[in-house]
Formats: sequence, structure tokens, C-alpha cells
Amino acid sequence: MKTQQKSKIGWLLENMKGYRALYAVGILGTFLYNVLQLTVPYISSKIVDTFLSGESAAANLASHKDLLYKLIAAMVLLTFFRTTVVYLVCLIMEVVSQKVLYRVRTFLFDKIENQDMKFYSTFRTGDLMTRVTGDLDAVRHMIAWVLRAIIESFSLFIATAVYFIYMDWLLALSMLIIAPFIFIIIRLFRDKVGPRHKLLREKHAQMNTAAQENISGNRVVKAFAREDYEIEKFDECNKDYAETNQKTAMTWLTYFPYVETFANLMPLVLLLLGGIFIINGRITMGDYVAFSGLIWALQNPMRMMGNIMNEFQRFSAASEKVMEIYYSEPTIVDAPDAIDKTERFEGKIEFKNVSFQYEDANLPVLHDITFSVEPGQTVAIMGETGCGKTSLINMIPRFYEPTQGEVLVDGINVNKLKLRQLRKNIGLATQDVLLFSDTIDGNIAYGDSHLSQKEVMKFAKYSAAADFISKMPDGYETIVGERGVGLSGGQKQRISLARALAVKPAILILDDTTSAVDMETEKQIQHSLKNLDFPCTKVIIAQRISTTKSADKILVIQDGRITEEGTHDELVAKGGYYCSLVKLQTGEEE
Ligand code: GTP
Ligand code: MG
Repeated sequence: MKTQQKSKIGWLLENMKGYRALYAVGILGTFLYNVLQLTVPYISSKIVDTFLSGESAAANLASHKDLLYKLIAAMVLLTFFRTTVVYLVCLIMEVVSQKVLYRVRTFLFDKIENQDMKFYSTFRTGDLMTRVTGDLDAVRHMIAWVLRAIIESFSLFIATAVYFIYMDWLLALSMLIIAPFIFIIIRLFRDKVGPRHKLLREKHAQMNTAAQENISGNRVVKAFAREDYEIEKFDECNKDYAETNQKTAMTWLTYFPYVETFANLMPLVLLLLGGIFIINGRITMGDYVAFSGLIWALQNPMRMMGNIMNEFQRFSAASEKVMEIYYSEPTIVDAPDAIDKTERFEGKIEFKNVSFQYEDANLPVLHDITFSVEPGQTVAIMGETGCGKTSLINMIPRFYEPTQGEVLVDGINVNKLKLRQLRKNIGLATQDVLLFSDTIDGNIAYGDSHLSQKEVMKFAKYSAAADFISKMPDGYETIVGERGVGLSGGQKQRISLARALAVKPAILILDDTTSAVDMETEKQIQHSLKNLDFPCTKVIIAQRISTTKSADKILVIQDGRITEEGTHDELVAKGGYYCSLVKLQTGEEE
């Protein structure tokens, strides 16, 4: 626990690089203004002893009036100075914490952006959102407030204790003997509240996830008229969170009375012992004034400790989650000896005895896949749903790596190519189409923002999207909603195809991209794919014979194995699965 906390602070310090000196000034300032707090009571005690209660008070008042004025002026000036220091400290803490927040958030987003596919199937969006918002705010709060409060309490307590001991060690120690009891209570509180904060943080993430999934899945909810059910479900998360929040906040109430009782024993000790000491002349009236005027400076730090510990545990729970992302490393990265292949790829694809299994699954998805596609050729992949087609093509851009065997592009194992360069040469239209909330133009030009309007229109034409786009109210400037809301399934697919084509890739991968468009439109698309004005190898996953018919090679996958391979005519002649599909589909068409 301790080493873990230490490393959390270490992590914090690491991210304060560049601001550490400024922050140190802030900490020093905190120390200074707390020590300065003691000067006013000190001067007051001098005034009392010299001008009010001492034997020669009246005489002093008459002859040393200027000293009295000086002392009062010093008090005013010190108060003013102290206020300035407090102001500057607050400013420094706020600036440093915001800078660190900005830096860590940018870093985290970068991290998240560069993760593998696996990462995205592990972490839920709502949970990730919590990490870059709420959790990070707890980290900011640690820098802006918690650390300062710790220094503040510590310096005030120590300075007062030293001052008290200097004035009268016996009286001081009699009061200070109470402190260890309070420390014990705070420790017990820490052990109790730590796990509570962890739980609270989980509940917060759960609530965010529920909200996020509901908002993005709102069409499904509506379609099934499950609003009430979802509201109830969310309400449960909300209630759960509120209750945990309340319980966490209430934890302090269990410990608070004990801390308060012990803290309130201090003035009692002062009253009793201090009184006796004045009577027997051990301390002066001025000393007593200083003691009683400053006793809060011993009590408050101890009272504050509960609050500080609470916030510290909140930071602890949150930073753990932030650090998990901060230090997470994608496993699919550029090899140290990766080949720098800056020229455009030829587009040759080879699979050599590739087997693949998802890490979290217990059975392989693909077995011993071997095939090759020459540059410019078209390969069609067919097979029943769930047979592993998407898993197969995911290994070409290296979204996943084969468990066995190798995938080569242009004769080089993809794990020896630079990821950026490899992926820049691949145009991919994924099975579940995701468009950004942007204009249609912006979506098509996503992979190449320098694309001219003319070229955007050309690619829209290739993907048979030009017609419907021109009929839209703002044409290419029409803004599509989040995930492409406002477009039909087939329209979305065609924009996603245009987007994949627009990078003029050496390898084009289409995962069921024309499944939602009609036969006539598909024919148009087939035609333009055959007549692209740049060299391109095409990997097309499709269910329709009309799409696969003209491919140079058709692969049939069954249960993760290639069971048939050849051209349309060859496979029809073979009379296997493909042939039965042909019969089924042409029969349907007729
Ligand atoms: P359709 O797109 O429906 O035609 O299927 P497909 O041939 O593209 O199948 P896909 O490659 O997507 O999936 C093959 C098998 O892998 C299926 O049994 C899936 O359940 C499984 N699968 C897919 N994605 C994942 C994943 O991220 N993790 C795990 N563990 N299994 C997965
Ligand atoms: Mg698929």
C-alpha cells in the first residue's frame, strides 16, 4: 500500500516536470504564510505584556507610545503581506494543477488513441470517459488543494508546537500529548475510507457507462420500447452511486466525534494548567494570551486531517485508474528493426499457415490459412456468418497478430513493416460503418484532408454515392449525425467505401460493404472498382455471388479453414459449398 502510494506521488511529480520549481515556490509560500500566522499572536502577547498587564504597563504606555504604534503597524503590514502570499500561492497551485491536468489528459488521449483493438474490447467507453474526466479531476485536486492542505496543516502544527515549547515546554507537551490519539483515529479512518473510495469510483464509472451506452444505443432502446426499463436500470446505477457517495461521506461522521473530543481537550488543559502556571508565576499573562490565541493552530490541522485523508483516498483510487491507462502499452507496435518502406506498396498479400485465436477465447477462430493475392488482383472471401472472415482480414492491417504462421504484404512480414506505413497503404471499409459527425465531404476526405472537392466527388461517384449526395439539402456539406445518423444503411456503406477509396490505397479491403445496397447500385460499384485509376489489390468479403463472380480468386471459409479456392467457374465446376450458393442465389433471383 505504502510503496504504491509513493509511486503515485512519484508519478505525479513526474508529470509536474517543468512546473516543479514553481510548485516548490507554492509549497514554500504555504509554509511561509502559515508560520506568519504565528507572528500576530506573538506581537499581541508582547503588547499585552508591555502595555496592558505588566507591572510597568502604565509607565510604558506613557513613555513608549511609539513602540506601541510600531508593533501595531507591524501587525497590519504582516497581515497584508500574509494575504498577498496566500493569494500568490493559490494562483500558483491553480496554474500548476491546470497545466498538469492538460498535459496528462493529452497524454492519456494519445495513449488511448494508439491502443490495440484488444484494448477497446477490454475497456468500456464510459469507463474510459470517467478516467479522462472525473478521475483526472481528482488528480488535479490533489495538486491544487490536497498537497497544499497537507503542507499547511503540517507547517502550522509544527510551527505552533515549536513556539509553544519555546514559551513553556511543560504546558506545550501537556497539550501535545493528545495529538497521537488523534493520529491513531485518523489512521483507522484511512483504512476504512480507502476501500470506500475505490468502490465509489467504480460506481461512478458504472453510471457513466450506463448513460453512454444508452445514449449511443438509443435507437435500439426506442425500437424495443424499452425506455422505462432503461430508465429504471439507470436509476439503479444512479441510486447505487448516490448511496455509495453518501456512505463514503458519512464514514467521517463515525470518527469525527472522537477527533473533536480529543481536540477540545486542548483548551481544557490550557485553562487548567495555564491558570495554575499564571498563579505560580511560571508564565505571564501575555504568554497565556499567545497560547489561547494560537491553540486553534494545533487543533485545526488535526481536525483537517479527516478531510485531507478523505481527499487523499479519492486521489488514490482515481490515480490508480488513470495510471492504468497511462502506463498501458499497446502490444502491436513497430518492431525495433522495422523496415522503412516509404514508397507506395505494390499490394501483394500472402497468408502462410496462419492460425488465429482471440486471447480471451478458448478455441482458435482460424486454422492453417494459406493463400496469396498478386498486386492488382481481386480476392473474394465467402463463408457463413461467424466463420472468421473479419478476423482474417483484421490481420492484414495488423489489428491482430496471427497466433501461428505469418501474414506478408509485398513479401515482408507485416510485423516488420511500420504500422503507419502499412496502414496508410490500406483502404478499409469496416463491417459496422462508423461515420464521424462531420460533413459528407469531411467524412470522405477523412484519410486525406488535402483531397480536392473534385476528387471527393470522383470517389463518391466510384462508390455510387454521388447521386444521393447531390440530392441532399446541402450536398457534400450536409452534416451527418453521430455515427452517421440521418443516412440509410446503404448510404452509409457507400460513403464508407468512398472514404476507403479516397486514400488511393494499394490494398482495398471491403468487409461486407455492399450488403445493404441494391443489385443495380452494386453493379455500378463493381464496375468502378474494376476501373479504378490507381493500382489496387482488392480483398472483398461478400455474401452475394454477383459480387464475387468476377474475382480473380474466391476463398470459401468454413469453420475457420479454407475449404474451397479458385475462380467462379472452377468452384462451380467443383460442385461444393460455393456451387450450392450459386444455385441457391440464382434460383432466388429467377
Ligand atoms: P460475419 O461478419 O457475421 O459474416 O462473420 P465473420 O466471418 O466476419 O466472423 P468473425 O471473424 O467476426 O468472427 C469469427 C469468430 O470469432 C466468431 O465466433 C466470433 O464470436 C469470434 N470473435 C469475433 N470477434 C471477437 C473478439 O473480439 N473476441 C473474441 N473472443 N471472439 C471474437
Ligand atoms: Mg464479419
